[in-house]
Amino acid sequence: MSVISKVVQALEPSATIAMATKAKELRAAGRTVYDLSLGEPDFATPDHICQAAVEAMRAGHTHYTQAPGIPELRAAVARHYAATHGIEYKPEQVVVSNGAKHSLHNVFTVLCDPGDEVIIPAPYWVSYAELVRLAGGVPVIVSTTQESNFKLLPEQLVEAVTERTKVLLLCSPSNPTGSMYSPEELAALADVAIERDLIVVTDEIYERLIYGDNRFASFPTVRDGLVDRTVIVNGVSKTYAMTGWRIGWTLSTVEVAKAMSKVQSQETSNPCSISQYAAIAALEGPQECVAEMCLEFAKRRDYVTSRIAEIDGLSCGEMDGAFYAFVNIQAHLGKSYGGTTIDNSSDWCLGLLDQQGVATVMGSAFGAEGYARLSFATSMDNLKAAFDGMAAFIDSAK
Ligand SMILES: Cc1ncc(COP(=O)(O)O)c(C=O)c1O
Repeated sequence: MSVISKVVQALEPSATIAMATKAKELRAAGRTVYDLSLGEPDFATPDHICQAAVEAMRAGHTHYTQAPGIPELRAAVARHYAATHGIEYKPEQVVVSNGAKHSLHNVFTVLCDPGDEVIIPAPYWVSYAELVRLAGGVPVIVSTTQESNFKLLPEQLVEAVTERTKVLLLCSPSNPTGSMYSPEELAALADVAIERDLIVVTDEIYERLIYGDNRFASFPTVRDGLVDRTVIVNGVSKTYAMTGWRIGWTLSTVEVAKAMSKVQSQETSNPCSISQYAAIAALEGPQECVAEMCLEFAKRRDYVTSRIAEIDGLSCGEMDGAFYAFVNIQAHLGKSYGGTTIDNSSDWCLGLLDQQGVATVMGSAFGAEGYARLSFATSMDNLKAAFDGMAAFIDSAK
């Protein structure tokens, strides 16, 4: 009998990290690998941010901080939301954690009693359901369609709500699909949330990586009175190429913020002191770096869109933001690849990695069979080679 708790035994490991690990192992064994598996900007953290971290160390900011983060960063986050979205938050409503993933863990820990239901539209980011389960909650997955560009419709939400529903979780722009809700679409969901008295957790980590004429709307701005039922999750990882610094945050009611701060004080004491100073420099320093990275992502997104359109049988939804393409591979399942019939996304992605050295992530990991997620947070050369490999893999199928 295992000594491991039932909750943890039932936990799925992160499929994205598993694919990235497999890709690294192949590379270590001497294979050429084109890795489109991880959602991690390939740019260096901008220099002025690194400089701020060095100065923080030199100034002796190398000790424990307040559990919910240093007051200067909490105030900077509140200022950022006021300046960019016109929402007034007090610094006490901000809790800084060790990455947005940790923020989400804190959110579900403080919101979920055993059996409380959290509605998660699929395709969803791999960690949501597992974080809800860890907190004792019950993920209720509602599948969306490529026709609605993978967006949850208000009538689907109405249908999914039960007596036990506590939270609706939204991710816009979305990992894994890149789709983004318009203010009107968010308002329609907000009406249901208000009527059914739901808390909305809105993961806005890709808010600054938006393409074309699309305009991002933060969830609580779309209707009056939403601030008190919303928890915003955000952070520096994607916007400023700071995945390793592990800084994320929430904006919520003071009640929820205090509860998260209490949990954090017992679990991790505080987020890294040095990274917190770097995050202030990110938010309050020059912002050209964000525009530059976004421009580069936009070029790659256009390239990825054109390559997908060129390959017979592949399609994807509109990528409004983030840096992922969620590619429909259904036309290429049920075929024989080198003598083996492949009929699901997991085997397809593993076959593609094995035969062409192209690492992607199976749609099943995001709650949508028949798709593969490609991250374009990687160089154009890598993308070109990866698409050539994918085209050859598909051509080989009979
Ligand atoms: C939608 C979404 N939320 C949260 C996170 C976690 O971000 P962090 O690296 O700050 O923990 C990710 C990272 O992939 C993500 O894609």
